[in-house]
Amino acid sequence: MTTLFYTGCSLDGFIADPDHDLSWLVSRDIDMGSAMGFETVQPRLGAAVMGASTWQWLVDHGEEAAVGGMPTWVLTHRDFAPADGVRFVAADTLDDVRSLHAEAVEAAGGKDLWLVGGGALVARFVEAGLVDELWVQLAPVTLGAGAPLLPARVELQLEEVVRNGDFVCTRYTVLGPGSAPVG
Ligand SMILES: NC(=O)c1ccc[n+]([C@@H]2O[C@H](COP(=O)([O-])OP(=O)(O)OC[C@H]3O[C@@H](n4cnc5c(N)ncnc54)[C@H](OP(=O)(O)O)[C@@H]3O)[C@@H](O)[C@H]2O)c1
Repeated sequence: MTTLFYTGCSLDGFIADPDHDLSWLVSRDIDMGSAMGFETVQPRLGAAVMGASTWQWLVDHGEEAAVGGMPTWVLTHRDFAPADGVRFVAADTLDDVRSLHAEAVEAAGGKDLWLVGGGALVARFVEAGLVDELWVQLAPVTLGAGAPLLPARVELQLEEVVRNGDFVCTRYTVLGPGSAPVG
């Protein structure tokens, strides 16, 4: 099974604007059922992990079904209203991240584990050596500021690129945390 981060992103590397608005993303044209669209990928996914702001966005927009009823972990220190199939936990240390990952992989039952975001959460999973792939759909817009895609240096290998509607859809293998440039 694969642990993957699948996300839309602005051309300048933000997955939400500073107000957690995604209208710049959801208003763009993409065929979800076509190459690298979410409906194509969704059948592979068996469990989901996300941060508190991402869950809050889903709740605020009545989009909790985006996780399709799969076992879901929301990493948080906040108190959220209970939701079916959703566990609210903190993962403050790398050991916490590793044990949560093991639990989620088991719950995924042989399917892939979907890291929904945000970027800092995914960076922690990369630091723990637990992320295999990055799937990024680049929208034709720059935001100037917002929630970063992946606020860490990570070495990647480009595996796949397709155009789908307004988006450049990319898939990368995660080689590992990067090191500082020499000199
Ligand atoms: N473009 C896309 O396709 C896409 C995909 C995903 C998300 N998004 C959007 O991007 C934005 C992401 O927001 P964000 O950058 O704030 O990231 P986030 O991961 O959604 O939320 C960050 C918060 O989650 C909690 N958290 C994260 N990691 C944790 C850990 N290991 N243990 C315990 N709590 C943890 C912390 O909040 P507390 O300590 O306060 O609980 C942290 O402040 C959201 O607006 C979301 O809707 C967009």
